Amino acid sequence: MKKIGVLTSGGDAPGMNAAVRAVVRKGIYHGLEVAGIYNGYQGLIEGRIEPLGLGDVGDIIQRGGTKLHSARCPEFITPEGQAKGIEQLKKEGIDGVVVIGGDGSYRGAMALSKHGIPCVGVPGTIDNDIPGTDFTIGFDTALNTVIEAIDKIRDTATSHERTFIVEVMGRDAGDLALWAGLSGGAETILIPEEAYDIPEMLDRLDKGKARGKKHSIIIVAEGVMSGNELAQLIEQETGIDTRVSVLGHIQRGGSPTARDRVLASLFGARAVEVLLEGKGGRAIGMRNNQVVDYDVTEAFGGSHEADLSLYTLSKELSI
Ligand code: F6P
Repeated sequence: MKKIGVLTSGGDAPGMNAAVRAVVRKGIYHGLEVAGIYNGYQGLIEGRIEPLGLGDVGDIIQRGGTKLHSARCPEFITPEGQAKGIEQLKKEGIDGVVVIGGDGSYRGAMALSKHGIPCVGVPGTIDNDIPGTDFTIGFDTALNTVIEAIDKIRDTATSHERTFIVEVMGRDAGDLALWAGLSGGAETILIPEEAYDIPEMLDRLDKGKARGKKHSIIIVAEGVMSGNELAQLIEQETGIDTRVSVLGHIQRGGSPTARDRVLASLFGARAVEVLLEGKGGRAIGMRNNQVVDYDVTEAFGGSHEADLSLYTLSKELSI
């Protein structure tokens, strides 16, 4: 292996830049040439590939977003799209690729590996929904963004003695809602992994009010329903006039937390080692505080399991 490529794909996540930096510097440390593939698989198809040196990844460890830009690329799902990508890699003399992104990005990585270009997936998504790893790059930063918002909402909720609904991202996964709900002291958390019970939720709100609670915070994962839909349901059932905050793409931006920077550095560096070991079709992850690599098909074959003990604990603590 003489030259490797790195790309970021799918929804961006804070910490992706730190991962790119780690791939580039670890690669150069081991005597490799490193190329940046801009705009994800779309850029690969179009040949948007440029060399990256040590200085090109300076001053990015603290930046959100991704220096390499990102895209969702339906064309790369097709054999024709993949063939175009492989042609570009061969033209550039790239022997292996590190793909930083979510499960859609991993499918592309597997396709490239099957066609003889070893690829390693590094989990980068705020959703924390990749099977095989306890955490993904970006989750911790997004979580802290949500918490900051909840803390602010709590101030105004208390002043006006209101019930607030906060809708958080996560696509089909509830991790962000779950962790934010527990660490934000929410009264109720609705996540796709647990059946929700509106009467039970309303009962909790009533009981809280009766014992003097000045406000209630309900966290709803976008995979369950929208905040506005939930507000309507609550109003229909109880007449309670709630306020809704949809945090949206704010959750995807911002300077990565120290934790995400460390995760990104560990994952990016390990991905390069895996390529140097001659392995392709692998994904990098963290299990029980250990960095691991595993077959990339496991990352989209199974389903990510939310830690439901947090759900139970949150219920116990928000009585
Ligand atoms: O996968 C990350 C994510 O932010 C999800 O939480 C969300 O559902 C989706 O991407 C939004 O995608 P887009 O940026 O394309 O609107």
